[in-house]
Amino acid sequence: AVTRTFSIIKPDATRRNLTGAVTKMLEEAGLRVVASKRIHMTKDQAEGFYAVHKERPFFGELVEFMISEPVVVQVLEGEDAVARNRDIMGATNPADAAEGTIRKTHALSIGENSVHGSDSDENAAIEIAYFFKDEEIVG
Ligand code: CMP
Repeated sequence: AVTRTFSIIKPDATRRNLTGAVTKMLEEAGLRVVASKRIHMTKDQAEGFYAVHKERPFFGELVEFMISEPVVVQVLEGEDAVARNRDIMGATNPADAAEGTIRKTHALSIGENSVHGSDSDENAAIEIAYFFKDEEIVG
């Protein structure tokens, strides 16, 4: 089925001017950008977005990284969008990511890993609603 997922092009990628390169890989994987905006997340926004990781040892580092520079938040649409996006992103740690994936191609480390993507349809809906109003999404 055609579904939607939520994506973030992270600060390590925007800083290196890779917004277009990453978006091209998403599009070539069959995903359509139906909403997109460049934002500089506030600390509150980042802490709320990553609340499920609050107890993890890397939480503080993760939040500081995500607010260090602008990011691009996007809604992606396509056939099985969550799985399709996870395939093209590759493993969280770029050292484990398959050839041809975004993280293998561009990521610097497990933290500075260039992209975020939702891990389920349920979380995709929550994450999309966290950053976008309905009328900002144009399918
Ligand atoms: P993301 O999909 O955005 O969701 C949680 C993020 O935590 C994950 O991508 C990683 O970038 C980050 N992360 C996971 N493990 C570590 C770690 N050991 N150190 C720093 N960041 C991490």
